[in-house]
Amino acid sequence: MNYRIRLDMNQIIIANSFNAPVYYEETVTSTMDISRKLAEEGKPHGTVIVADFQKAGRGRIRGRTWEMYKSLNLAFTIFLRYPLQENIPAALTLRAGLAVLNAIKDFAGSLPPNNEGQDFHEKIKIKWPNDIMLGGKKCAGILCEADGLSCVYIGIGINVNQKEFPVHLRSKATSIAVETGINLNKNDRFYLLEKILTYLYSELNEKEVFDSWRTRLDQYIYKKGERVVFEEGAADSGKKTNGCLSGIGNDGELLILPDGRTEQLSFFTGELIIDIN
Ligand code: BTN
Repeated sequence: MNYRIRLDMNQIIIANSFNAPVYYEETVTSTMDISRKLAEEGKPHGTVIVADFQKAGRGRIRGRTWEMYKSLNLAFTIFLRYPLQENIPAALTLRAGLAVLNAIKDFAGSLPPNNEGQDFHEKIKIKWPNDIMLGGKKCAGILCEADGLSCVYIGIGINVNQKEFPVHLRSKATSIAVETGINLNKNDRFYLLEKILTYLYSELNEKEVFDSWRTRLDQYIYKKGERVVFEEGAADSGKKTNGCLSGIGNDGELLILPDGRTEQLSFFTGELIIDIN
């Protein structure tokens, strides 16, 4: 995995299945901002910007930041051009999550085995709508934004080689290195990036010949069939539903069967806030 070559100041040689450039910056505010600039400059569909450090990384929920330690993790944004709104793939965030999950599994499978690595494949899940969980803790987050014109921006942050977390995140966050028990090389992050781009490309472009994305996702849904508390809409809306997480609908909505009810409810925005099992 030791084959990175810098081409010029910004571009790195990485296999990108979208057949578009991959740019690298050491420090940025957020790769989401740089990605918008690259799109405005006319760069092609599938262009990627990856950064070693973000000074103002953003989370999905308004006002939340995405914190990362320099050089240890992977933070990038890929933009996709969809001149026709109706061509934007359904459930984009979840399908990007599926690509990230498969890439992490593939990546972990290519690492030398060790004791903790053995059950790795069992403990990776997608927490609706945008978190990748490893052993019940978050190891990656996905942020999808649209510019209302023709671009969607998929920002992905993955804790790869970080072993220490700030106190407020210690019970909630983990990394691939922590969960596999393997020390990764700094450049292994780029190998993982290649895998994500490969899986993302096939997730969004290949015809669903065998299985729909919903079927493929089903086995990985965090807390499926378990009791949860869900907070609808904006953070701290206070509109909570207690019930059983029954699955994901056709458009990527979360399905919950509320306690004492016989009909499930669909939610498009909100957050699973408390795990009560
Ligand atoms: C979340 O879990 O709320 C989403 C986190 C998304 C983080 C990534 S890191 C790369 C890209 N740039 C950002 O500022 N955010 C996304």
